This record gives sequence, structure tokens and C-alpha cells, in this order.
Amino acid sequence: MARLFFLLLLFPLLYSSVTGLNRSDFPPSFLFGASTSSYQVEGAYLDDSKGLSNWDVFSHVPGNIDDGSNGDVAADHYHRYKDDIEMMHSIGLSSYRFSLSWSRILPKGRFGGVNQAGVKFYNSLINGLLEKGIQPFVTINHYDIPEELQERYNSWLNPEIQEDFTYFVELCFKMFGDRVKHWVTFNEPNLIVKLAYSIGAFPPNRCSEPYGKCDSGNSSTEPYIAAHNMILAHAKTVNIYRKNYKSKQGGFVGISLHLRWYEPLRNITEDHLAVSRALSFDAPWILDPLFFGDYPHQMRQILGPNLPKFTEGEKKLLKNQIDFIGVNHYQTFYVKDCIYSLCDMDAYPSEALVSISTERNGIPIGKPTPVANTYVVPSSMEKLVMYLKQRYKSIPLYITENGYAQIANISTTAEEIINDIERSTYIRDYLTYLSFAIRKGADVRGYFVWSLMDNFEWISGYTVKYGLCHVNFKSLKRTPKLSAKWYSKFIKGYEQIEMASEELPKHMVS
Ligand SMILES: *[C@@H]1O[C@H](CO)[C@@H](O)[C@H](O)[C@H]1NC(C)=O
Ligand SMILES: *[C@@H]1O[C@H](CO)[C@@H](O)[C@H](O)[C@H]1NC(C)=O
Ligand SMILES: *[C@@H]1O[C@H](CO)[C@@H](O)[C@H](O)[C@H]1NC(C)=O
Ligand SMILES: *[C@@H]1O[C@H](CO)[C@@H](O)[C@H](O)[C@H]1NC(C)=O
Repeated sequence: MARLFFLLLLFPLLYSSVTGLNRSDFPPSFLFGASTSSYQVEGAYLDDSKGLSNWDVFSHVPGNIDDGSNGDVAADHYHRYKDDIEMMHSIGLSSYRFSLSWSRILPKGRFGGVNQAGVKFYNSLINGLLEKGIQPFVTINHYDIPEELQERYNSWLNPEIQEDFTYFVELCFKMFGDRVKHWVTFNEPNLIVKLAYSIGAFPPNRCSEPYGKCDSGNSSTEPYIAAHNMILAHAKTVNIYRKNYKSKQGGFVGISLHLRWYEPLRNITEDHLAVSRALSFDAPWILDPLFFGDYPHQMRQILGPNLPKFTEGEKKLLKNQIDFIGVNHYQTFYVKDCIYSLCDMDAYPSEALVSISTERNGIPIGKPTPVANTYVVPSSMEKLVMYLKQRYKSIPLYITENGYAQIANISTTAEEIINDIERSTYIRDYLTYLSFAIRKGADVRGYFVWSLMDNFEWISGYTVKYGLCHVNFKSLKRTPKLSAKWYSKFIKGYEQIEMASEELPKHMVS
């Protein structure tokens, strides 16, 4: 109780200030939202003829999920979406980013029929959002795929999946495109292929040593093959949309990437080049093909034949096949060159020939968070956005994920989770630096907190909590956290919000 009282006293301090961040630092049309994904929140994993996804199968194998849990029920969003829309409305969100469960709509991919109950669910969700003035921001594929496609032909390793994907997206445009104006083809293709095919921790658990221990796979080639198929599937999707739907529906198709920021460990040319290499293995890997028609030369130089090639016809198809970039940003690292310098690369296996760390001379890169290797460095938000603006010119950006995790253990109370002052501060400070980028001319059009509510956080199960709203996974009751209240006040523009410059690592402020 004493703790709660203390927090209540602190709370007003978060707002009051002389010259702080406020809603008018962002354009009036700017979307303030929150994100989720289908497998992480929906539950109802067998309801109404849904087909099995790769995650349904994977999470049921003992030992795969840290806390032995699965997404069978998750936050039960499938049954509680109406309450969740109410919750979003009361916070004041102008957009909700969610993903479609492919196997709920097409239980067997293109090898079976359309599940009308799945279509009905998403229609109800979309209509419910629009009734409250909340824009649906739809991710077509966020990690979960029909298990059928895995079993039939090895999913992303097979170019055939491009056919399945475009079959699915065409259906989505037909069914939902009259109301959905923002489509994200893939969530974090650059991360998921690493998790699935390099370290092999996510389905289909393929990898080779020294990156991981798996029954089969090849960490040097398969991540790049899987990403190659995703890039082509994305380009074909945009092509279909522009040809057949854009003029009637007037929407936009983008892609969301997992984007870290990097700082040179030492202020020497070699480490500045290492930063540029590390960066090119994140965004340009996926985006250079979609803007310029081919992979960045730094990747080609290092990976050689392990990086697949686009045909001349594909290069033509690829160019300018994107309407916006979705930025998912959580982490900042120091990088050290490993071409000209002696270094060991074992912190993270890095194909970019850099060594990655989170400390310089024993001083961490930012304020630590409960998640390993994840520090709070709000200025990275501005730097990342300015880097993308410089490389990809006038393309609109949406911050499709940014957020702070809490880790719960057996003795963590709901009260502790709900009083998330760290998350409130985190969001405020990242938004502050985002507003600096906007002031410098970056065309950023929205910001989505990951996540609307606590959910099934992949292999961490229910122990890692990113929500603005707490979910009691026994009663499934939702409770807005302190951060939801802060975000709400900010969006509604009630008060000015102070910037906590004392919380920023001094050496990071430039
Ligand atoms: C909000 O911020 C803007 C831009 O920094 C400033 O011009 C304006 O006065 C602020 N509004 C309030 C109510 O403080
Ligand atoms: C992975 O594939 C490459 C290219 O075909 C090959 O050189 C390498 O030996 C393979 N590695 C493993 C572990 O199979
Ligand atoms: C890095 O070194 C250059 C000159 O080599 C200097 O101008 C610059 O201020 C240094 N930057 C930092 C952050 O120390
Ligand atoms: C559980 O988490 C709390 C922070 O919420 C931490 O102080 C405590 O040490 C943790 N206990 C165990 C057993 O890990």
C-alpha cells in the first residue's frame, strides 16, 4: 500500500512541466495506437473450424515454451474483442494494429476452402473498430502460418509459398479491403527467419552449428532463402493491390521490420563501417530489394552465393513495391569491427562480421530493462528514423512496435505489473525523440505501442508482459495499467508531458 501511495504521488510528476512533450508535437492526423498479433491474443485455437497453425503444433510440444504454456486461450480476444474495442476506445486509440490468423481464414491454405466463421470474426472486429472511430491497421502475416503449408512443402523454404500467400492476400483485399486502408504484409521477416532458421528456436526449428542445435537445417543459407520468398511474396502482393484494388480501395501496403540501432564501440573508422554493415543486415536486407530491386552490396560481398539472387524479371517487379515502412524498435547495441580488428563474435553470431555488445568500458549503453540485452536508449528512435529517411527518401513511416517488457515470476503481484511507471516513462521518452525526428522533416504517420495487453509472448509464454493493459490469465479480466492511463491522457492532450532528460544516459545524448 505504501508503494502504491508513493506511485500515486509520482504520477502527476510525469505530466507537469514547463516545456514538455504534448499531443501537438505530432500532426493532427497522426495515428496513436497499440499492436497485437493473432496467435498471441486470440486463443480459440480450434473454435469454429479454424485450422491448426504452426504455432498451435509447436507450443504443444513439451519443452518448447518456457513456462509450459501455449496460446490455446491466450487473452481470449476472439471471444472478448468487443470489450477490447471498448478498452481501446476509452484509452483514446485512433488505430489498432492486429494480425490475421491465416489458418482461421484458410485452414489448409489454398488447398482447402474458406472458413466463413473466420471471415465473420474479422469482419465483426473491423466493423466494431470503425464504429468507435478506430482505424484497423492489419498485419497479414505475423509469424503464424497454416501447419498444412509446413507439412506439404516446407513453407518459407519453398517458392510455392508465394502462391499461397498471394492467394490469401487477394482474399483479404476482397473481403476486408473496402474498410482496411493500411496493410502490413509481414511482421519482422528479418527477425523471424533468424529465429526459425538460424538459431532454430521458433518453428520449424531448423538450424546448424554453431548457431544452434537442430535436427536439420542450414543457418548459413536457409534464413536468406526464407526471407527471399517473403520479399517476393510482398512485392507480388503490392503488385496485385495496385493493379486490382488500389483505385477502388485507396489503401497502402507496407512491411514491418525489426530494427535495432547501433553505435560504434570505438570512435574509429573501422567501427563506423561496422555500424553501417550491421545496419545493412537489418533494414536494407529487406528494403533495398523493395526500393531499388536488389540486396545491399555489403550483404552480397559478405554472403556471396549464400544470398539468393533475383532474376532480371524479379528485379523489375521488385522496384518501388512499397507504400510505407513499419518500424518495430526495441534495442540498441554497440558494434565493433571484426574484419580489421581482433574480436570474438560469440555474443551473437553475426553474419555482418561485427561483434555486438551492450557495454563500453563497463558502462551499459542505457538504462537496463528486465529483458536481457535490452536497454532504454530513447535517442535511438530519432537516429533510426533519420537513417531510414536518408536512405529511403520520402517514404512514410509508421512505428508499428515499440514497448517495454516486464518479467513476472511466482512472487510478482498484479499490483506491481499494473504500476508500470517504467513503461510510462519509456513511451514518453521514445515519443519525445520521435517528435524530434518529425521536427527535422521525417514523414512519420503513426506510433503503436507493443502491446495493447499482456499476451502469449512466444517462447517466453506468459512470463514476459508488454501490455498497456494487464490480463489476469485465470479470469481473463483486463485492467489498464498506469501506462495506459498515461498514454490516454497524452493522446487526449490533457496535459503537457515533461521529458526526463536525467534518465537518458549522458554519453548517448548528442
Ligand atoms: C505543445 O507543444 C507545442 C510544440 O512544442 C507548443 O508550441 C505548445 O505551446 C504546447 N502546448 C501546450 C498546451 O503546452
Ligand atoms: C549449408 O549450405 C552451404 C551452401 O550450400 C554449404 O556450403 C554448407 O556446407 C552447408 N552447411 C551445412 C551445415 O549443411
Ligand atoms: C570522433 O572522432 C572525430 C575525429 O576523429 C571527432 O571529430 C568526433 O567528435 C568524435 N566523436 C565522439 C563522439 O567522440
Ligand atoms: C521475481 O521478480 C522480482 C521483480 O518483480 C524480483 O525482485 C525477484 O528477485 C524475482 N524472484 C525470483 C525468485 O526470481
